[in-house]
Amino acid sequence: MKTALITGATSGIGKATAELLAKQGFRLILCGRRTEVLDQLKFELSAYTETFSLNFDQRYFEEVEKAFESLPIDWKKIDILINNAGNAHGLDSLIEGNINDWDMMIDGNVKGILYVSKMIMPGMKERNSGHIVNISSVAARQTYANGVVYCASKKAVDVLSEGMRLELTEFGIKVTNIQPGAVETDFSKVRFKGDDDRAKTVYQGYEALKAEDVADAIAYCINAPKHVMISDLTIYPSAQSEPRTIHRK
Ligand SMILES: NC(=O)c1ccc[n+]([C@@H]2O[C@H](COP(=O)([O-])OP(=O)(O)OC[C@H]3O[C@@H](n4cnc5c(N)ncnc54)[C@H](OP(=O)(O)O)[C@@H]3O)[C@@H](O)[C@H]2O)c1
Repeated sequence: MKTALITGATSGIGKATAELLAKQGFRLILCGRRTEVLDQLKFELSAYTETFSLNFDQRYFEEVEKAFESLPIDWKKIDILINNAGNAHGLDSLIEGNINDWDMMIDGNVKGILYVSKMIMPGMKERNSGHIVNISSVAARQTYANGVVYCASKKAVDVLSEGMRLELTEFGIKVTNIQPGAVETDFSKVRFKGDDDRAKTVYQGYEALKAEDVADAIAYCINAPKHVMISDLTIYPSAQSEPRTIHRK
């Protein structure tokens, strides 16, 4: 039975992926900052599979390292890493931008992937197998005003995926980079700092992707035959023609 580690499993795409992979029989390591939500998810998924949870903020290497050191020996062999955790914080111009928001995005979305991957790549290399799935965004394809730092953080994810593929392919490790368009999750609620009404407007007048749609795409990539590597995958809602253009009714 393969073990998959999912970061950001407490919400949205990560949670939907955990639910789907549990039903497909993967053992799961569920990661997030909210312990109560992780405990609840562990309980729900126990009907389908074995789970273990790790609680850390991936902006801080010491926290990441400590969490991984706490893994029992039979959970240390991680076959699949899904680097999903991340968020946008704020929607402001560079002139108006909040430094704390910038740190959250650069540290969380970029350094977080590096820190978590650093704990897992050596084991994959040793075993000559593994699969890393990085969740980027269509924001990496086309920069938009007021979202520049988020776009930069996601462009960095694209580059990390490309670099991982260059350095890890010879060790039998697959690397997949997924760029979702608009997905209705807590993403906009986090971006607008809990302003629900403003968050809802992002998804009005069209049918956004559901977290489950992206989970399906992730499952497709990790269940592909051994000789098949999906390197890059972009997924839009049908109403979105490019990163900045959504056709609303
Ligand atoms: N929704 C979209 O439209 C969209 C589009 C393209 C790409 N994406 C990307 O998809 C990924 C998942 O987002 P989502 O839409 O599912 O949003 P979400 O519902 O807000 O989920 C974000 C997840 O990331 C975790 N997280 C955030 N910062 C973290 C940190 N510093 N350390 C550890 N965990 C952290 C959160 O867990 P805790 O709060 O428990 O830590 C949560 O589980 C993100 O990388 C996002 O950039 C989303």
